[in-house]
Amino acid sequence: MIDIRDKWALVTGASRGVGFRVARALSKNGANVILHSRKLEGTAALYEELKSEGSVVKQVEGELGDPLALQNIITEVSKLASAGLDILYNNAAIMTAYRNIYEVTVDEYMQSFMVNCVAPAKLCDAFLPGMLKKNFGRIVNVTSGIADQPQLMAYSCSKAALDRYVRDMLPTLDKTNVLMNLMDPGWLSTDLGGDKAPNHPDTVLPGALVPVLLEQSDGSGKLYCAQDYREDIK
Ligand SMILES: NC(=O)c1ccc[n+]([C@@H]2O[C@H](COP(=O)([O-])OP(=O)(O)OC[C@H]3O[C@@H](n4cnc5c(N)ncnc54)[C@H](OP(=O)(O)O)[C@@H]3O)[C@@H](O)[C@H]2O)c1
Repeated sequence: MIDIRDKWALVTGASRGVGFRVARALSKNGANVILHSRKLEGTAALYEELKSEGSVVKQVEGELGDPLALQNIITEVSKLASAGLDILYNNAAIMTAYRNIYEVTVDEYMQSFMVNCVAPAKLCDAFLPGMLKKNFGRIVNVTSGIADQPQLMAYSCSKAALDRYVRDMLPTLDKTNVLMNLMDPGWLSTDLGGDKAPNHPDTVLPGALVPVLLEQSDGSGKLYCAQDYREDIK
């Protein structure tokens, strides 16, 4: 396990669910965390909590479905982490409505691809070169184990495209200490997962931190399933 004290981390979608828990855990492990959600109010409570503990914590807001807002986020984060971002946790995502099969709309595909694949990809594109330059970085792209649900095709296709981004980026990371991996939280009772989900959101830890704390020799391109690391059912 690596030491992430004083490393600069961006967690997208840190206002609730998985991102909230990951951001708080990174901060407790000593990282300087930049909390993202659509509005600053979304992360205000966590910001105050972490700040009151003496942690270095910042906030950034922006709609990931809007290219201009995305560029603003990149500019803001680059200023906040002026020596370069060390940890990029691409967590935020949307899941559009459960549709009758064949009725997923063009707009739902476009929105899902923008928020769930294009935005995380462009955040990687923005911060990977700086990580490679200093030969340190940990990128976690949050994916999903969703399968055989064509009613949620916009969501699942956008996650599959993100998986492919990771796979095809791997040759550029070979022999470097910049690692890019995927994390599947499992089906959780968050706002996105809904109340039928069998797993409490807290069960995403400690597994969700595993791909951040990897040693260089652990490499890139793997899928880490957070539920595999649950301490309560071992
Ligand atoms: N929950 C599950 O069962 C499950 C299963 C597999 C994978 N996942 C994945 O785990 C990740 C986290 O999911 P979750 O369940 O924690 O979701 P969640 O509770 O619904 O939280 C979503 C987060 O993403 C942010 N967000 C949503 N739409 C956004 C947009 N258009 N632009 C910017 N930020 C946006 C939200 O911020 P605001 O406060 O601004 O709304 C919020 O912080 C996602 O990648 C999801 O696909 C979840």
